[in-house]
Amino acid sequence: MNDFDWAAMADLLELEGETHSPYVRQAFEELRHLAPRRILDVGSGPGVAACRLAATFPQAEVTAVDGAPELLARAEERAGRLGVKLRTRVAEFPAGLAGLGQADLVWSGQVVHHVGDQQGALERLAGLLAPGGVLAIVEGGLPERRLPRDLGLGRPGLEARLDAAMARRFARMRAELPGSVAVVEDWPGMLRAAGLTDVRSRTFLVDHPAPLAEGPRRSVRRTLERQRTVLNELLDAEDLATLDRLLDPAAPEGVDRRADLFLLTAKTVHFGRRPGH
Ligand SMILES: C[S@@+](CC[C@H](N)C(=O)[O-])C[C@H]1O[C@@H](n2cnc3c(N)ncnc32)[C@H](O)[C@@H]1O
Repeated sequence: MNDFDWAAMADLLELEGETHSPYVRQAFEELRHLAPRRILDVGSGPGVAACRLAATFPQAEVTAVDGAPELLARAEERAGRLGVKLRTRVAEFPAGLAGLGQADLVWSGQVVHHVGDQQGALERLAGLLAPGGVLAIVEGGLPERRLPRDLGLGRPGLEARLDAAMARRFARMRAELPGSVAVVEDWPGMLRAAGLTDVRSRTFLVDHPAPLAEGPRRSVRRTLERQRTVLNELLDAEDLATLDRLLDPAAPEGVDRRADLFLLTAKTVHFGRRPGH
């Protein structure tokens, strides 16, 4: 694994997973016809999608797979709380994917871009499918929007500059991954190159308009806190001061109190099927 401290991100991943869950529900609806018997959620994190899979396909054996045991413990707690059946398995990707056994559905949300050789990772994931089985990966989509362009603090256009800084950080993260391979990130093309057919992509809108409920509001706070930390060297002093003001719990224009805060994003799921019955 790279320099991400995934275990420390458990709260953020769980909140974000819950806030984004409308897209996961819609994507799983599209997979109902598969009636999968064995499902793997590869890179499950704290198990929000894995538990949703278990609830959507109660007759299936669902296994959450991740490199961080702390996150799998969270997934188990969550499954217990929700009363769904979930197995967990610690595995480091891509090497640890061998030996997971065949599945009718492999779901992998926002994980492949954390592996150095993305095409190689897709080939390993495709290799887990039983004939006729489906691989669904979440990659691409659009960054979150949460604030008006002119938010009454600092220079207008803060979020566009956060996106640009996150993109620079992302490029550095990719370059530093072990075995990093540059590839044109044409996800449908890459799924086809991994031997899959009936490849298609669908983008789902996640739309929480203002005024935000408590959960999405906390998710926005956590995400901005993380951006404030990881972008410290990549933003100018004025934007950092604006972020500090937004994150000040006492500030009336801060994210805890603003009436105009919203959460809008889009998630793209790319599906491919292993040829066979
Ligand atoms: C961005 S999170 C995605 C969590 C969840 N699938 C979602 O969509 O919200 C990436 C997850 O992949 C796991 N992960 C990343 N790289 C990994 C690797 N090389 N081996 C094992 N797990 C890895 C992390 O522990 C983390 O839980």
